[in-house]
Amino acid sequence: MTETIEIYKGLAGVPVDYTAVSKVNPETNSLLYRGYPVQELAANCSFEQVALLLWNGELPSKEELAEFEAFERANRALAPEVRTVIDALPTTSHPMDVVRTAVSVIGASDPETADDSPEANLRKAKRLFAGLPAIVAYDQRRRHGLEPVEARDDLDYSQNFLWLAFGEEQAPEVVDAFRVSMVLYAEHSFNASTFTARVITSTLADLYSAVTGAIGALKGPLHGGANEAVMHTFEEIGEAGQVEAWLDEALASKKKVMGFGHRVYKNGDSRVPTMRAAMERMIDHYGRQDVLDLYVALEEAFGGRKGIKPNLDYPAGPTYHLMGFDTPTFTPIFVASRITGWTAHILEQNASNALIRPLSVYNGPDERHVPGA
Ligand code: ACO
Repeated sequence: MTETIEIYKGLAGVPVDYTAVSKVNPETNSLLYRGYPVQELAANCSFEQVALLLWNGELPSKEELAEFEAFERANRALAPEVRTVIDALPTTSHPMDVVRTAVSVIGASDPETADDSPEANLRKAKRLFAGLPAIVAYDQRRRHGLEPVEARDDLDYSQNFLWLAFGEEQAPEVVDAFRVSMVLYAEHSFNASTFTARVITSTLADLYSAVTGAIGALKGPLHGGANEAVMHTFEEIGEAGQVEAWLDEALASKKKVMGFGHRVYKNGDSRVPTMRAAMERMIDHYGRQDVLDLYVALEEAFGGRKGIKPNLDYPAGPTYHLMGFDTPTFTPIFVASRITGWTAHILEQNASNALIRPLSVYNGPDERHVPGA
């Protein structure tokens, strides 16, 4: 008699470890970073403050924040070896492949790569935090044949990110919507990319290997790639009046509607109201009511038919589009934010490590033998 073993496909509903970094509570529809509601952080904190909270467990003092801001401003430049490798890649490379390659180059060039002490890993995390915007912006500009823009140390993180991307200072409301998106994307417990980073870390591989793997996991459209996919959907649909016809066809062909649904939240993603409000501010700022009409029409039509609600990628994609980012840059922006959560988890995994190695149940052919053996 064969024993029945329950398989938790996709590890759905399986707790695999403790974490003190964040708590997702689907029942109360809340998300806490180190105990703080993400909505409060988005309303009151800079992205730099949130990064320090995720790494250190506490919001920074004025002095700690000033010290980190100075470090971040001093570490924004694109390293020459990274620029050389990016320039060697075709301009048709997906920006997620470019960012993943850039992090690999940084890891292969960093004399601290093999030092996995918490202090060295925190320094690496902070350098990646400071350096990623230049990589993302440089690649977007090169794909459009534009000259790179030098970082400005009189601007904060979000202002500088937009400056690097567009070579123009942006209106305060645009900077603020961007900051909100960075805070909301920063951390989300054991999502696929964070779990990937933890699995790699659990083998005692270095932080850059873990981050490179996490970028690979984030690229997929069931995870971070969904913010890019949402924009493709909007382009395919065209305008609000076409939503029903598009949906008929999408559902008939069993297509996933990107930016909807979530493994953990079943009654809506706790981050959506805050991001949607930021998106609506951008719709007013850029005078694009048509985008809101399409957003609402698809949300209502899909929600009405399937009862599935939007996730964070649904309002984030159109927000980045309105700001002027090209669609393939959306997921690399997510990388620049999630680097905080990933590295906080890498530090936590290292602090109480156990190799992550689940079991599988074999369902292939019974034992057999090579002819003549
Ligand atoms: N479009 C169409 N149907 C969906 C969607 C969707 N977006 N989401 C869930 N469903 C349906 C499934 O087809 C399935 O139906 P069935 O039971 O009739 O087969 C049911 O709802 C359950 O969905 P699963 O995919 O099995 O549930 P899971 O927990 O694995 O899915 C996931 C979560 C992968 C996020 C899913 O909702 C999805 O594919 N969404 C689209 C991609 C997306 O937006 N990803 C971003 C995630 S959030 C983030 O990374 C910030």
